Amino acid sequence: MSSKERFADKMEFPPEIEQPNVYPLSWHRKTEKLQEVWEASLREYWKPEELPWDTLDLDSYTWEERECIAYWWTLLSVFDASAPPVFAEALIKTYEVHEEDPVRKCFFSVTSDEQNHEIMCGLSITKLLDHPDPLTYEPKTDIGRRLQKNAKWLYFNGARYWNGYKTAVPKYDLAVLFSSFLMGEIAAATIFKQMYENSREPVFKEAFKNIGRDEGRHMAICMAVMERDYPGISEEHKAIVTKQIRAGYLFLSAVLYEPPADFWDLPSDFIANQREAEEIARNAGFGIPTVEAKRENWRQAIINLKGVLDHYNIPFPAIPEVGITGEEISDVEMDDIIPVF
Ligand SMILES: [Fe+2]
Ligand SMILES: [Fe+2]
Repeated sequence: MSSKERFADKMEFPPEIEQPNVYPLSWHRKTEKLQEVWEASLREYWKPEELPWDTLDLDSYTWEERECIAYWWTLLSVFDASAPPVFAEALIKTYEVHEEDPVRKCFFSVTSDEQNHEIMCGLSITKLLDHPDPLTYEPKTDIGRRLQKNAKWLYFNGARYWNGYKTAVPKYDLAVLFSSFLMGEIAAATIFKQMYENSREPVFKEAFKNIGRDEGRHMAICMAVMERDYPGISEEHKAIVTKQIRAGYLFLSAVLYEPPADFWDLPSDFIANQREAEEIARNAGFGIPTVEAKRENWRQAIINLKGVLDHYNIPFPAIPEVGITGEEISDVEMDDIIPVF
């Protein structure tokens, strides 16, 4: 007989399947809210390629302005280009743990939305630089050269985070993963709304409106799953959530505020170069909030999140950088990081 054990001639029904197994053969539907979000995602689907690109007159921008705006899209893509694989990994997990059907569909929609955001970053960068890769592009101005160095360092840090994420996902329960996702989604919804309001180029405005709407749906998904799962959350999981929120703050600050030096491994001129670029982009009508406005937004997003977690008696971490007191969390490592954007 072959080494493969045969069952069908020994028993009437097959043996139990070992879990977690990759796929459920069931379509339970408990959380109606998630079905609504899934349907909204289909209705609100958009195509970055079909935005009014013909209205973008690149010759009305200087090369400094083009490189500075492209830098912001590059910064965003350090987060958004990692989001499709990040959510694809989470999507697989929803199948492995046999999540109900609308949860699986919602994660599929987030993966697809995030790929759209990444496509949008790519189209913007390619048009602005006339080159499809910000790391191999030959900068034309002094600020462009300094920003390319920034971009290389951001990319290096982002790459470290991917390994952390891959080891973190199997370790954590979906309930814990959702708290990290929520942090990213609250913050994303806030920043894109502002970028929409403050940008004057129609194609970017339209993109920010669409991305902001997508992020709002992602936030609704996280909230619905938390409402379902958090009333019974264990003390052990609560402690992990608290730590994740602190990790999320450190990670996402790079795009929503400024990268904290104790976590982001960046050269000392990084922040000065970035501030200079943001000023140039802002003056060219590209709506990046000022440092003060970013700080205030970020604080507001964190306060909203705190409101959600307080509701479930989950201790909140101290975030003194934006004036929020709470539990002191000091041992945050790259391996702990699971927030996404
Ligand atoms: Fe996104
Ligand atoms: Fe998102």
